[in-house]
Amino acid sequence: MDVEKKDFIYEGKAKRMFTTENPELIVVEYKDSFTAFNGMKKETMEGKGELNNKICSKLFEYLASKDIESHFVRQLDNVHQLVKRVKIIPLEVIVRNITTGSLCKRIGVKEGIVLSRPLIEFSYKDDELGDPLIIEDYAVQFGWATEEEITKIKDISFRVNKTLKEFFAKRGVTLVDFKLEFGKDSAGKIILADEVSPDTCRFWDSSTGDHLDKDRFRKDLGTVLDAYREIWKRISE
Ligand code: TMP
Ligand code: ASP
Repeated sequence: MDVEKKDFIYEGKAKRMFTTENPELIVVEYKDSFTAFNGMKKETMEGKGELNNKICSKLFEYLASKDIESHFVRQLDNVHQLVKRVKIIPLEVIVRNITTGSLCKRIGVKEGIVLSRPLIEFSYKDDELGDPLIIEDYAVQFGWATEEEITKIKDISFRVNKTLKEFFAKRGVTLVDFKLEFGKDSAGKIILADEVSPDTCRFWDSSTGDHLDKDRFRKDLGTVLDAYREIWKRISE
C-alpha cells in the first residue's frame, strides 16, 4: 500500500477508518465481518472484506465514468480504499425497484412486485434508534439536510439506480434495491459516500432468482461468500 495509515478514526460494523498525511483523505479498511439486524447477528468470514472492497471499488469507478461523483479516490490494496474525507449526512437513502424486505413487512404488500417507478425512502442514521424510517420533512426540520440538498440527494440516487440497474442487467443480475449514504466534501458539495456492495444492495440472479447479496446471511441461506464471488465474477469480466 503506497499510502500510510496514520491515526485510527472510527470502527463501524464492516469498516475501519484511518487518517492519512493528507487531511482531506482517509483510508477505509474493509473488515471480514457480517452483521445484520442492527448488529444483533454477527459472523466473520475470511475474504469478505476483500470481495466487498473489490466490488465497491469497481462500482464507484463505474459510477465515476458516468459522471456520478463519490468519495472514492482509488483502491489501495485488497482491503483498503483511499477516499475523500466528507461530513456524513445522517440519512440512509433507500431506492427500490422491486418490493421486498422491510417494505413488505411494514405495509403488507406482496414480495416481488416490479414497481412502476423507483421508490425512494429515507431513514435517520442512528443505531440506537435502529435507523428509523422518516419523512423528508423531518430531515429539513431537524437540520440533517436542506430542501436543496434533499433534491440533490434524490437526483443522484435515481441516477445511481438507472446506471447500476443497466450495468447489472447486462450481467444477468437484477438490481432489486439498495441503500446509499451521502457526505459533504470540504467545498460543501454533496457526493456519494460509504459503500455500494452486496452488503448494501439486493441482487437477484435474473434467470434463477437466486439471492446474490447479504440476504443470504440475514436469512441463513448459506453460501454467502460464493454469492459475493459470483457478483465479483460478473462485474469483473
Ligand atoms: P430493507 O428492505 O431491509 O429496508 O433494505 C433495503 C436495502 O437497504 C437493501 O438493499 C439492504 C440495504 N440495507 C443496508 O444497506 N443497511 C441496512 O442497515 C439495512 C437495514 C438495509
Ligand atoms: N447493516 C445493518 C447491521 O449490520 C443491518 C443490515 O444490513 O441488515 O446490523
